[in-house]
Amino acid sequence: MSMDEAASSESSNAAAARAKQDQMVERALREWRGQLESLVAVVTGGARGIGRSMSEGLMRAGAKVVAADKSWDGAEDFRKQLEADHGLAVEVDITDDTQLDAAYVDVLDRFGTVDILINNAALVSETLFHPTGHRNTLDTTDQDWQAMFGVNVFGTLKVIRRFIQPMQEKRRGSIVNVVSSGVLPVAAGGGYHGLRPWTVEMPYQATKAAITALTFYLGEEVRGDGVAVNAIMPGHTRASWFDTTARAFNEIGVVYFMRPAIPEHLLPITLFLSAQDGRGAAGRLYYVPEWNYDHGYGDYAAWLDRELPPDMEEMYSRLEAAMPKYERAGVPHLPFDAQGALYAAAMANLGSQENWAGGSTQ
Ligand SMILES: NC(=O)c1ccc[n+]([C@@H]2O[C@H](COP(=O)([O-])OP(=O)(O)OC[C@H]3O[C@@H](n4cnc5c(N)ncnc54)[C@H](O)[C@@H]3O)[C@@H](O)[C@H]2O)c1
Repeated sequence: MSMDEAASSESSNAAAARAKQDQMVERALREWRGQLESLVAVVTGGARGIGRSMSEGLMRAGAKVVAADKSWDGAEDFRKQLEADHGLAVEVDITDDTQLDAAYVDVLDRFGTVDILINNAALVSETLFHPTGHRNTLDTTDQDWQAMFGVNVFGTLKVIRRFIQPMQEKRRGSIVNVVSSGVLPVAAGGGYHGLRPWTVEMPYQATKAAITALTFYLGEEVRGDGVAVNAIMPGHTRASWFDTTARAFNEIGVVYFMRPAIPEHLLPITLFLSAQDGRGAAGRLYYVPEWNYDHGYGDYAAWLDRELPPDMEEMYSRLEAAMPKYERAGVPHLPFDAQGALYAAAMANLGSQENWAGGSTQ
């Protein structure tokens, strides 16, 4: 195959993958539009990344969307689109009580109530320790922990304390907390170990573990008030920080783990959970790729980003070509240790002495 032929077959594969992804999103919209039409949804961190995609999905499902973010720089087009669609863009730092009080008043003045709250805003390791995100626990400072807990835990709690009030008053509502699979313990013959502690993500994962525990406890406490509280763990997603991080690793000869998924892989479950209340699914933690597979929304590979910029496409194609094949029936997403081993084998096949895991590339 010539280079031109290879490029053209790559772009038709990418178009076919995108068409299938669009169909799955359309199906989800059809499935839940009837239950979400005209509900008021607040999405924190809604200006970019996963939060923007969730805001767009909820808007397309007919909800009135409030996207709240501490910064709208570079997201002006989305702000206009949101406002044209009868939504509201709010500039608010969720760590700031005064700003949050004002945002709460704005939302109630405009829409009179809140039905859905998506707690998505967070600092991730890649934004706190820009650009690679890797810092071993003993190299972190108290200030790093305070910054991370300030946004991801105390900020989230401040948002919940306010926006849950209309839901409790009318005895109906849904809260969705975005956490991470890095919080999971895995059973191993009577004991437990971490799902993937080699991803080097403290204090980020400590904050996500706190919000996971909060989901179970608060979920039980407010279920009787009609409010569902659930948590979701996304796949490895191409959010706003992703390309900078992947390129920083590439500069030191390392491919930034596996090809990312598109943020839209979170839409079907976001719509489903948004339509819940205390009488439905509540107090639960879902791993999004597994939920998608079990509900007919494709396996993990179906949601991978096949439309990367050329330099990133080159990195991930090279990695995938060097990766040993491993598939198993009934496993929509390979266990993380298997992924880690395949990734390390691919990096070794590429002749690299270094790889992304294990904190070797701080
Ligand atoms: N991208 C992934 O692979 C991945 C995986 C697991 C979990 N998550 C979670 O998904 C959620 C979204 O992250 P993302 O990857 O889209 O990152 P992102 O950085 O692209 O988006 C986060 C958004 O939160 C906003 N934000 C940060 N601090 C804020 C504050 N104090 N007040 C208001 N807004 C604030 C940012 O401005 C940004 O728009 C986070 O909860 C993250 O932990 C992401």
